[in-house]
Amino acid sequence: MITVENLTKTFTLHILGDKKIEACRDVSFRVPPAGFLGLAGPSGAGKSTVLKCMYRTYLAGSGAIRYQSATHGMVDLATLPDQAVIDIRHREMGYVSQFLKVIPRVSALNVVMEPIVSRNGVTRAVARKRATSLLERLRIPAHLFDAYPATFSGGEQQRVNIARAVSWQPRLLLLDEPTASLDQDSVGIVLDILKELRQEGTTMIGIFHDAMLLQSVTDSVYHIG
Ligand SMILES: Nc1ncnc2c1ncn2[C@@H]1O[C@H](COP(=O)(O)OP(=O)(O)O)[C@@H](O)[C@H]1O
Ligand SMILES: [Mg+2]
Repeated sequence: MITVENLTKTFTLHILGDKKIEACRDVSFRVPPAGFLGLAGPSGAGKSTVLKCMYRTYLAGSGAIRYQSATHGMVDLATLPDQAVIDIRHREMGYVSQFLKVIPRVSALNVVMEPIVSRNGVTRAVARKRATSLLERLRIPAHLFDAYPATFSGGEQQRVNIARAVSWQPRLLLLDEPTASLDQDSVGIVLDILKELRQEGTTMIGIFHDAMLLQSVTDSVYHIG
C-alpha cells in the first residue's frame, strides 16, 4: 500500500547562519493494505517529520514515498504535484496530530460531520447520526455538541479531533501521538475505534507516546534514530 524508501529531510536554519538540521535520514519501511505500522524513537528522532512528509505538510528532501492510491494509481508523494496531493488528501488520506486545529465558529458536531458529508457523499441526516454516535462513544457530553471546540478542555478537543479524523473512514490514516492528552479510559475507547477502522480496511501509520500502547495497537514497529 505504501513504501517509503530512503526518506531524508533536511532543514536549513537561516537564523543560525544557514545551519543544516537533518530531521530524518534514510528512513525505509513498507506497510501492506490494512496494516498498522508504528514509528518509534527518541524525541527529536524525526518521527513527526516522516508523517508530515507523507501528508506533504513537508516536502521530502530525497527518497520516495510510493503510495498505491485508489484514485490516482501508483504515486510518489515526495514528488507528486500539489493539486494531486490535495485531491488524495481529500479522498483518501487522514491525519491526526496531537492538537486540534480549531476551526473558528464551527460546532463540535459540524466539525465531525463536515468530512462525512463532503467525502462520503451521504445526506446530512446520515452524517449527523454517525457524528453523534462517535462523539457519544468518545464521551463528549451532549450539551457540548453544538458548542465551539475552542472553549473545550485539551482532552475534549483531542477527542473531537480524533472523531473528525476517523468519521469518514479514510483509506490511509496518519496518527501523530493522538492519545497523548487523554485519560486511560479514553485511550481504550480510541484504540477500539482504531481497531474497528482497521477491520474496515484503513491502513495506518502511527506514533504513540507509550511503548506498551505502540506494541498493543500496531502490527510492526519501525525504529528511527
Ligand atoms: N519545520 C522545522 N524547521 C526546523 N527544524 C525542524 C522542523 N521540523 C522538525 N525539525 C527538527 O527535526 C528534528 C526532528 O523533529 P521531529 O520530527 O518533530 O521529531 P520527533 O517527532 O521524533 O520528536 C528535530 O531536531 C526538530 O527540531
Ligand atoms: Mg513528534
